[in-house]
Amino acid sequence: MKGIILAGGSATRLYPLSKAISKQIMPVYDKPMIYYPLSTLMLAGIREVLVISTPRDLPMFKELLGTGEEIGMKFDYIIQEKPNGLAQAFVLGEKFLDGDSACLILGDNMFYGQSFSRMLKEAATITSGASIFGYYVKDPRAYGVVEFDEEGKVISLEEKPQKPKSNYAVPGLYFYDNTVTKKAKDLQPSARGEYEITDLNKMYLEEGSLKVQLFGRGFAWLDTGNCDSLLEASNYVETIQNRQGFYISCIEEIAWRNKWIDNDALRNLGQKFDKTAYGQYILSLLD
Ligand code: G1P
Repeated sequence: MKGIILAGGSATRLYPLSKAISKQIMPVYDKPMIYYPLSTLMLAGIREVLVISTPRDLPMFKELLGTGEEIGMKFDYIIQEKPNGLAQAFVLGEKFLDGDSACLILGDNMFYGQSFSRMLKEAATITSGASIFGYYVKDPRAYGVVEFDEEGKVISLEEKPQKPKSNYAVPGLYFYDNTVTKKAKDLQPSARGEYEITDLNKMYLEEGSLKVQLFGRGFAWLDTGNCDSLLEASNYVETIQNRQGFYISCIEEIAWRNKWIDNDALRNLGQKFDKTAYGQYILSLLD
């Protein structure tokens, strides 16, 4: 399975910050936002990742993340000229995927909680169909919304409904089999002119091969859509890290725990930033 991070979009609700810098490079406490979705892919065991972004922002991601070799990964990059919708990622990524199954994560989606790694590893074993998630929110109108019957069977999916049929939003993390590119190519643009991920998920639903897993109450799916939620996400990361002493989404640590890099490589990475708490944390892992 290969991974795709979609880090595009206009982020109008973060203006004027978004005029200066790509949203997904903005800090969430002590690291760039894109580290969080990247670490989710890493926890799923995915080593090859395609970063898709705008012509303005893609060079920044290349500079930040490089080839991926330092952390035992391989990064590719491709431009999405216009924000034509999430499902276009699979058409743009056709060559990169090369017939493999795919996990798409949005560059501004943060996930944190117990047993998450296990859920991810399981979802990443998918060979047919699609696996997506549901998360209870107070107001789901800004999201894809999934409706279930009494037995937990999915009966409908809707994108940003005015009158949601349930409180379950679909987070920006999707696992698909290798028919995804073909399906994405068959999509028609929606009323807002985008190739919708929800329409893609509906194709799997109609086929009877869509699996939806729910995240429980103790799980955090954080939003970074406006200045308040961005600050809240930073405060969340700071609170957990300072309380437990474990870092959230330290990509060097995850690469090392995944055995993609050895002790010497980890030490080298830590020494590069040993004047920072982040670098010292990396070095402390070897004690
Ligand atoms: C997108 C998807 C939506 C999903 C959301 C998750 O919305 O279209 O279905 O629930 O991401 O963050 P957008 O961020 O484009 O408004």
